Amino acid sequence: MSDEDVDVLVVGAGVAGLSVAAGLAATRRVMIVDKGDGSTRWAQGGIAGAVAADDDPRDHAADTAAAGAGLCADRPLAVLVEEGPLRLAELIAAGARFDREAGGALATTLEGGHHRRRVVHAGGDATGAEVARVLTAATRGLTRMGDATVVELTRGPGRCGPQVTGALVRQGDRLVPITARAVVLATGGIGHAYPASTNPAAVTGDGLALALQAGATLTDIEFVQFHPTVLHTGGRLGQLPLVSEALRGEGAVLRDAAGVAFMAGRHPLADLAARDVVAREIHAVLQRDGVDHVHLDATALGSELLRHRFPTVLAACAAVGVDATREPIPVAPAQHFLCGGVATDRWGATDVPGLYAVGEVAATGVHGANRLASNSLLEGLVFGRRVAARLTLELPGAARGTLPAAPIARVVPRSADVAREVLGRYAGVRRSGAGLAAGLAELAALERADGLPAPTEWTVAGAVLAAAAARTESRGCHYRDDHPLRSEWWRRSVHVHRAETGLPAVVVDDVASAA
Ligand code: SIN
Repeated sequence: MSDEDVDVLVVGAGVAGLSVAAGLAATRRVMIVDKGDGSTRWAQGGIAGAVAADDDPRDHAADTAAAGAGLCADRPLAVLVEEGPLRLAELIAAGARFDREAGGALATTLEGGHHRRRVVHAGGDATGAEVARVLTAATRGLTRMGDATVVELTRGPGRCGPQVTGALVRQGDRLVPITARAVVLATGGIGHAYPASTNPAAVTGDGLALALQAGATLTDIEFVQFHPTVLHTGGRLGQLPLVSEALRGEGAVLRDAAGVAFMAGRHPLADLAARDVVAREIHAVLQRDGVDHVHLDATALGSELLRHRFPTVLAACAAVGVDATREPIPVAPAQHFLCGGVATDRWGATDVPGLYAVGEVAATGVHGANRLASNSLLEGLVFGRRVAARLTLELPGAARGTLPAAPIARVVPRSADVAREVLGRYAGVRRSGAGLAAGLAELAALERADGLPAPTEWTVAGAVLAAAAARTESRGCHYRDDHPLRSEWWRRSVHVHRAETGLPAVVVDDVASAA
């Protein structure tokens, strides 16, 4: 066992974690710990921002709030849309090569729920890879432990009572205790707490489980977004290739087995309705026709545009024998994004001293009940920079001393497959009270049967099922067959906390949101 002592430990190396690290690199001792490939590198569509002359951050906020179905928090949302263009400009100054029009202006595209073309992109449909390239370069001199998992957060006495003081990290067969004045969770979403997801395999919800066990509050985690168009590869599970929504932005159309463009007439934005709407319509077609996929027809876009704008999608299709320039692409919804997460303020602070969260693992309130397309890389850039600013103020100078540390959270991977299967079965595109109760009972029985500490997937599945069971309405990407309508009373949040034993406990806000 060796020992490390740093100012800030950043857990995760996607857009959010690297933005925090880059913002602190010059003035604080930062260490980055990451499990491996996260979601950032796989992001296709782009980054939303009111950068066009005819756009306005207020219009971006209005589209985000409409997708968020009444639960977006006003002030964090204003931060997102107003600071977003500044962060984009900084990224460009740092060397990011976004696609441009012939005249030199940033090229923008349209995605679901946006009323303007405001999604900037790089490499056609390889935006995340370009963002990762630039931020990785900006953090190159920092200490980084790759292929490493945080197995415990530790705490000790702080200025105002107990606080998080570091983490125990497993890398291969060594355990490394790290003492830190602040720990920033930037671990991404919960993709592989589900059987199939667009997220890479390392994304299992570790940050949520660690935060919960450290005593932090999770919020809005019943809002799990399913991307409507994920490449259907004969029922394969695990990480599945995304078929970017930007294809529909450029004119691709969803068709059923008979070739009917079924979104027309179902919503004023047709194929470009918000993701929850499109995912549910696809789900209805799958049930009606007894099939496991529909088709996305992009052939009318022409092979030149497809090759130029969507090389990643074309390559993924080619790998399963589909020529997307000549034939429709088989697609079905799959888990994509968690809209809620660890509750934070607008500077990334959780309700546990010393613990911060940023990016998909965090819930700042910007996404409400459903995230608008291409707001996720944006969130990582904007709030990553804010966490760095907050920590620069909170951790003046470099005075340190090793704080006594005691383990408070241990995540032991076990029973993961069963929890994954339970979450996929009961907390998918459509849910019901009976199903959610059955899922919770199955998880509880699983825990009683093995009597061992809960694995990440069990904790995450229990938290999502409990939150979804509590919300007895349909809103955004949470749809209940037994409560199909949106209820004004439910303009409030569901919070999830650690329980002394068993499944996480749920508390419903006693006041409605002012948003
Ligand atoms: C996409 O390209 O369809 C995904 C973009 C996003 O999730 O925001």
